[in-house]
Amino acid sequence: MSYQAEFQRAIGQPESFWREQAEQIDWITPPATIWQARDNGHGDWFPDGTLNTSDVALDANIRAGRGEQTALIYDSPVTGSTGSWTYRELTAEVARFAGALQHEGIGKGDRVVIYMPMIPQAVIAMLACARLGAIHSVVFGGFAAHELAVRIEDAEPKALITASCGIEINRVIEYKPLVDRAIEQSSHKPDCCIVFQREQAVAAMLEGRDKDWNELMSNAGPAGPVPVKATDPLYILYTSGTTGKPKGVVRDNGGHAVALRYSMKLVYNAEPGDVFWTASDVGWVVGHSYIVYAPLLTGCTTILYEGKPVKTPDAGAFWRVVQDHKVNLLFTAPTAFRAVRKEDPEADELARYDTSSLKRIFVAGERLDPPTYEWLREHTGLPVLDHWWQTETGWAICCNPVGIEMLLTKPGSATMPSPGFNVQVVDSRGQQVAHGEQGQIAVKLPLPPGCMTTVWGDDERFRKTYLDPIPGFYSSGDGGFEDEDGYIFIMGRTDDVINVAGHRLSTGEMEEVIASHPAVAECCVVGVQDQLKGQVPVGLVLVKDSATIDHDELEDELVEMVRERIGAIASLRRAMVVDRLPKTRSGKILRRIIRQIADGESYNVPGTIDDPAILDEISEQFGRTD
Ligand code: COA
Ligand code: AMP
Repeated sequence: MSYQAEFQRAIGQPESFWREQAEQIDWITPPATIWQARDNGHGDWFPDGTLNTSDVALDANIRAGRGEQTALIYDSPVTGSTGSWTYRELTAEVARFAGALQHEGIGKGDRVVIYMPMIPQAVIAMLACARLGAIHSVVFGGFAAHELAVRIEDAEPKALITASCGIEINRVIEYKPLVDRAIEQSSHKPDCCIVFQREQAVAAMLEGRDKDWNELMSNAGPAGPVPVKATDPLYILYTSGTTGKPKGVVRDNGGHAVALRYSMKLVYNAEPGDVFWTASDVGWVVGHSYIVYAPLLTGCTTILYEGKPVKTPDAGAFWRVVQDHKVNLLFTAPTAFRAVRKEDPEADELARYDTSSLKRIFVAGERLDPPTYEWLREHTGLPVLDHWWQTETGWAICCNPVGIEMLLTKPGSATMPSPGFNVQVVDSRGQQVAHGEQGQIAVKLPLPPGCMTTVWGDDERFRKTYLDPIPGFYSSGDGGFEDEDGYIFIMGRTDDVINVAGHRLSTGEMEEVIASHPAVAECCVVGVQDQLKGQVPVGLVLVKDSATIDHDELEDELVEMVRERIGAIASLRRAMVVDRLPKTRSGKILRRIIRQIADGESYNVPGTIDDPAILDEISEQFGRTD
């Protein structure tokens, strides 16, 4: 079948299309109803089906005869260790840890926050929650205590699972003091905190609350998969929005399993038995979907890599992993390849390894800049496939559908909408704009399976953010255009979200941190272009008349505050003191123009600006006099 035929069928007959896809997974009760409307074009997938995601990802593979196949490979250059688990072994570990959680009183619907580095226990913990029907919420290990506290406060977990430390290249980052501080800051307190002790830093335990992972495991018996409704939440994953408060994206069990299974064929053309490596982190959606769930739901071997593209130990790190584990499909963020290219422009490292197992390279998470695309294509000779998606959708909204038909690649484009996503480029009233013209990228409702069902504890925010702005559509928050061949080009966010080294961050949140400094009267943060990280945040700060602090000192303090409150990944590059901020007459800061000035782009002086002379002052601040 051609891509066009598949796309038309998914949009024209969604129920029969997704019923067929649903047959690819092992249900406890197969769904009789495929889609049920809630309201305003939004609805639920497979509402009367029951399943257990850990059963589909693990036990079902044993039933299918893959029990002795490797399910998970752990490769950790930062500790110099590797390990592997067959489907049978991983199932046993997950069942046992689920038993341990059950013993701690965790059951269906309970929330469990997981704050862990890239170690197998993180994967085991996620799948164990799924086994019990408990809802996990993984928090990326690079987030600071405050961010963890905000998520604990919102998700109200019964338990928190962590490790004693993470390792950043050669730096040991103790997690437990951060966890202790986060629990202290949060008004909600989890009943227990399970700690996996690593030898690089042994954590002090709090009597009564803290439990040792190994001890719990040695006393636990296995727990079987608990049937849940397809619409029951599998996980909450917090993501940055335009305000300081992150949004808890809720993902269901049934739609998620069906969509991810389908995506493995459509987007990656992965088959059971393939070695699938996503070099990301389980704390991001890319890690949830393509390190943990999708490869296991498909019977692939997945790789968990605790290292970096460079410096662990060098720019050949990725190619070494491909060789050692005979990786067939590699997926990472463009930033990772920019880092490799910067250190190894001629790809000398690539030549040192046997990478013949590799069939395709996939990138997502941020815009794939054409030079990085060309470099990868030229040096690897492999298809390099960009695809566009978000935490909210859980799988690709646009991709090159290689599992159906390999389409021509256009550098800078994420290719075509995935079947199920009726993507349209529209203006603010929902009217389609002409080919080549920039607009907002929206998806006509209903969304296909696998997408977020709501914002945890705040359905109103879900509607306000995603459904109300353009009635009948899901608003993606991204802008871009469609060319005359139907290719979609994503040009960047239309809101205050920025993308730093593939990490999604909110400038609004950074502004809140900066504004809390006693010397700051007003501020704004914008994402400016960066050769390595795609974007980096830069702040413009207006100091209070009464403040006497030296400006350099203030800048250092603000950079440190952002790091301390949000995490090292926020990487505030500068916090420049300015005399005035460019505003409209109604007092709205002109962030877009500041960004254009910082990036050296031309801009139109808006008629609504309060005082155009400020733009020259800002240009000077950024060292741009043209
Ligand atoms: N725990 C604690 N700290 C972390 C962390 C984690 N899990 N991840 C990153 N950090 C820290 C880093 O150590 C660094 O600290 P420093 O400022 O003290 O050096 C800071 O956060 C910024 O990290 P990062 O954004 O990763 O930049 P970098 O310069 O250290 O590395 C790359 C650049 C390109 C090598 C790196 O960003 C990378 O591997 N990117 C891949 C992108 C990716 O996986 N994205 C996920 C979405 S698909
Ligand atoms: P996250 O929710 O962290 O996955 O980030 C999602 C955001 O990353 C999107 O809204 C886009 O702005 C950006 N993004 C993801 N994939 C791509 C891509 N292939 N091209 C351009 N931007 C992308």
